[in-house]
Amino acid sequence: MNNKAKVIGTGSYLPERILTNRELEQMVDTSDEWIVTRTGMKERRIAAPDEFTSTMGVIAARRALEDAKLTPQDIDYIIVATITPDYPFPSTACLIQQALGAKKAASVDIQAACTGYLYALSMAKAFVETGVYKNVLIVVSEKLSSIIDYKDRSTCVLFGDGAAASVVSLEGKGLVIQSVRLGADGEQADLLKMAGGGCRHPTTVETVEQGMHYIKMAGNEVFKHAVRRMEAACKECLEALQLQELDVSWVVPHQANIRIIDAVAKRFEHLPPERIYKTVEKYGNTSASSVAIALHDLLQNHPIKTGEKIMLTAFGSGFTWGAALLEADR
Ligand code: ACO
Repeated sequence: MNNKAKVIGTGSYLPERILTNRELEQMVDTSDEWIVTRTGMKERRIAAPDEFTSTMGVIAARRALEDAKLTPQDIDYIIVATITPDYPFPSTACLIQQALGAKKAASVDIQAACTGYLYALSMAKAFVETGVYKNVLIVVSEKLSSIIDYKDRSTCVLFGDGAAASVVSLEGKGLVIQSVRLGADGEQADLLKMAGGGCRHPTTVETVEQGMHYIKMAGNEVFKHAVRRMEAACKECLEALQLQELDVSWVVPHQANIRIIDAVAKRFEHLPPERIYKTVEKYGNTSASSVAIALHDLLQNHPIKTGEKIMLTAFGSGFTWGAALLEADR
């Protein structure tokens, strides 16, 4: 498998502060019972005022580098996927590059909302398999609490902060990236967006007063698309490799809602429930970070044997979606 890109190291960082459903009951008209039954979430993490997408990303990146037994100087390219960059510019990737001391690494931010990790994975795979770059560092990090309206019960219960990172290389043991399949549909852009702060609606007193710097989501519509697209992406990914659902040992889906996860899991009914990996209860939806945090959690808590196949799948604003099949070579 030496000609295929591998994830050779992973790490994550979750802020200390826990926001519980009980606390949310004090903030908006909701209940622990509604949140648990409708979303599967019990708590989520919230970054401290002096923690940012870059600083959380740096901690996750250091952990992933340590896991990969590489130093920042070994990294040739840094891809950061986020919808909550520290600034519109410069990129969060450049801030992370500087903090790590990864002096030779070219650095760029990408934006594919909750599908960010899978988009980054496909880029890293292409770069290392074509020999353009040797070691690529992916960082996914979100301070979603900075764009949440804590008066809007339809969104504030769903999202949390956190970061994860992966090192992708041809050399070393790890998870072979067998295939990544991606999709997008800009027709649905209005169903999930933050309208203010870009060049269409530059920040003004009016955009702030109208709440245009917060996430707005038509949850119910998004839900239906999410299930359909993730199911189709998994199917496409397996077909590309001439594999079947039965060949999959673990599924790590985007952690947006337990009901979405359960619906996608129906494709993999041969797997016991614990093999559909979930962190939604403790971390909520961390957008770009979600799948990568869950993947790192899985690797920490379960010995994955050589040959076992892990299906990743995600869906997010844009709309964007994707699936990736990783095979353990450890
Ligand atoms: N507490 C109590 N009631 C609530 C809450 C709440 N926190 N939020 C909404 N409700 C109410 C609504 O007002 C509505 O009341 P009504 O019937 O009186 O109008 C009722 O609950 C049902 O609302 P729905 O929106 O239909 O609820 P639904 O079962 O669809 O659950 C949810 C909402 C959790 C948002 C769900 O639709 C969902 O998970 N959607 C997908 C999210 C997702 O996948 N996002 C993609 C990635 S995110 C990204 O890219 C940044």
